[in-house]
Amino acid sequence: MVSWPAGEKGILAISARVIDGKAISARVRRAVADEVQKFTSGTGVVPGLSVVLAGDDAASVSYVMAKEKAAREAGIAGNVLRLPGSATQEQVVRTVEALNRDPAVHGILVQLPLPGHVDTDAVVRTIDPGKDVDGLHPYNFGLLLAGKPTFAPATPSGIQRMLIEEGIETNGAHAVICGRSSIVGRPMAALMMARGNGANATVTVCHTGTRDLAAVTRLADILIVAIGRPEAITANMVRPGAVVIDVGVNRVAAPDRKSGFRLVGDVAYDEVARVASHITPVPGGVGPMTIAMLLQNTLAAARASTAGTPASL
Ligand code: GUN
Repeated sequence: MVSWPAGEKGILAISARVIDGKAISARVRRAVADEVQKFTSGTGVVPGLSVVLAGDDAASVSYVMAKEKAAREAGIAGNVLRLPGSATQEQVVRTVEALNRDPAVHGILVQLPLPGHVDTDAVVRTIDPGKDVDGLHPYNFGLLLAGKPTFAPATPSGIQRMLIEEGIETNGAHAVICGRSSIVGRPMAALMMARGNGANATVTVCHTGTRDLAAVTRLADILIVAIGRPEAITANMVRPGAVVIDVGVNRVAAPDRKSGFRLVGDVAYDEVARVASHITPVPGGVGPMTIAMLLQNTLAAARASTAGTPASL
C-alpha cells in the first residue's frame, strides 16, 4: 500500500506515462480510412453505419455526433436516426428492422442507455448479428466468450489495442477489471482471457458484490475500471507500477466553467498517476479509441457482407 505524508501530495510529480488515446485513435482512424478507400475503389461499395438514438440525453447526443463525424471522415456513410425519448419499444424495434433490411447499411449501433420503458435486450436481439458492429447481440457475445470473436465491442477492443500499441505485456499478467457491464466489463474479461496478442492474461472481475475491492485491485498488473463512480479508485488501491485504464466518464459540477461541469474518470487521476506506470486520462484516453474500433468493425461488416461471408476479425 502506498500512502503519502500529508502536505507532500501537491509537490510529487506525475510519474506514470500518460497513454494518449487521442493520438492512437487518430492513427487507427487513418489506417481505417486508407482501407475504406481501397475497399470502395475496388468494390464500388461505401460502408454504411447507422446509429439509433432515442431521447436527448446530452452525453449520448455528443457521443453519437462524434461517431457520425468520425465515420464521415473515414469515408464511411454515417447517419444518425433520432427518435423521441417517448418512442415506444415497437418504434425502436421497427427502426432496427428497417436498417436490417437496408443493403446500404452495414453497421447498426443502438446508443445505450435506451429510455427506461424500452426493453434493451429485446432491441439488441433484433439487430442482424452480421450488422451488429457493437458486438452486443447474444450471437456475437457468445462467440466472443467462446474465444472466437466476430465483432468485439468497441470499448474493450479499443482498450486492448491501446495496450498493444503501448507495448504493455499482457501475456501472463494479472488483469483486474472493475465492473461487469455488457458493454465493457464482461467483454473486456473475455478479450483479456483469450489467447493471442494483447491477451492471454489471468483475469479477475470485481463488481458490487466484491468484498474487499482494494485488496483485489492491489493485485492488478493491469487495472481496468468501468464502474461509473467519479474518482472511486484512489492511489492506495493501486500497486506501484500497475497500468491503469480508466473507462469512466462522469460529469461533476464545476461552477467556474461555462458548461457548469467537468469530466472526470472513475480513477482519482492526480494521485494514481503518481503510483501507476501508465495511466489513461479522461477525456482523451479510452473514449477516442471506442470510436476508432467502431469504424474498424463497420469496415469489417461491409467487407463480409460484400464477400457474402460471416464477419470475422
Ligand atoms: N453508450 C456508451 N457506450 C456505448 C457503446 O459502446 N455502445 C452503445 N451502443 N452505447 C453506448
